Amino acid sequence: MLSPRSVLITGANRGIGLELVRQFLQLETPPKHVFATCRSPDKAEDLHTLANSNGAVQVLKLDVSEPDSFPGLREEVESVLQGSGLNLLINNAGIIGRDDLSSVTVQRMESLYRTNTIGPLFLAKEFLPLIQKAAKAASNQPMSCTKAAIVNMTSKVGSMEDNGSGGRYPYRTSKAALNMVTKNLSVDLKSDDILSVSLHPGYVKTDMGGPNALITSEQSVQGMMNVMAGLNEDTNGLMIDYAGKIIPW
Ligand SMILES: NC(=O)c1ccc[n+]([C@@H]2O[C@H](COP(=O)([O-])OP(=O)(O)OC[C@H]3O[C@@H](n4cnc5c(N)ncnc54)[C@H](OP(=O)(O)O)[C@@H]3O)[C@@H](O)[C@H]2O)c1
Repeated sequence: MLSPRSVLITGANRGIGLELVRQFLQLETPPKHVFATCRSPDKAEDLHTLANSNGAVQVLKLDVSEPDSFPGLREEVESVLQGSGLNLLINNAGIIGRDDLSSVTVQRMESLYRTNTIGPLFLAKEFLPLIQKAAKAASNQPMSCTKAAIVNMTSKVGSMEDNGSGGRYPYRTSKAALNMVTKNLSVDLKSDDILSVSLHPGYVKTDMGGPNALITSEQSVQGMMNVMAGLNEDTNGLMIDYAGKIIPW
């Protein structure tokens, strides 16, 4: 069963992130705190609609490409948690870059790494003490997303083995690097009983995936909720898709 007491989701104003907020609220035992972060809370109308009808949702400002702002966010979250830890961090926010060898630039590589790789790593680092606190509070329980976990939203196109078509330098490389962040965290945080995984949401009909994608965000998130519910020590440090299939690095 998936029943974290608290979850923080980045890029929660639209697409997969917004649907994650919705489906966490629909759990049999929903979280007491859903920290739904986004770059522009003023424009996050759908998120505010959810927050207005459910007191668990806190809409907080976060640009994941600005690590200097992370301590301020952590302090806000800490004050709401009032001494409890954070069970689940979902690094969902991301940007796509389709640049091929002829069009890729230094600026594009830096920009995608900053959002897709550096942001998730430093957010995990900033929130680690709170996630460790959650893990300690449930020390008698096995590893799980209910207890203490970091979930990084990756893409299959970041898989070396899956790459048969090349191109997309900034996106592929930033997600491949994010996968190494996941793997590293799974090794470094194992002794703390904190689970780390990369999830691939499928090819999803969002602004990023476009209208010709294969599944809706509802289907993708329903699948990922099931996957998160079943994660344990054996699946620590893996890349898994929304249907539960393990994807080779
Ligand atoms: N859709 C797919 O088919 C697909 C496939 C594989 C992986 N993924 C991954 O799934 C995740 C979600 O994708 P999606 O399809 O929901 O994309 P989306 O519809 O384009 O939404 C992206 C989200 O990320 C946020 N974001 C972008 N840059 C940010 C930043 N610097 N700081 C904070 N938030 C930022 C966006 O906020 P703004 O509204 O402020 O821009 C938005 O909330 C991404 O990591 C993506 O790489 C998606």
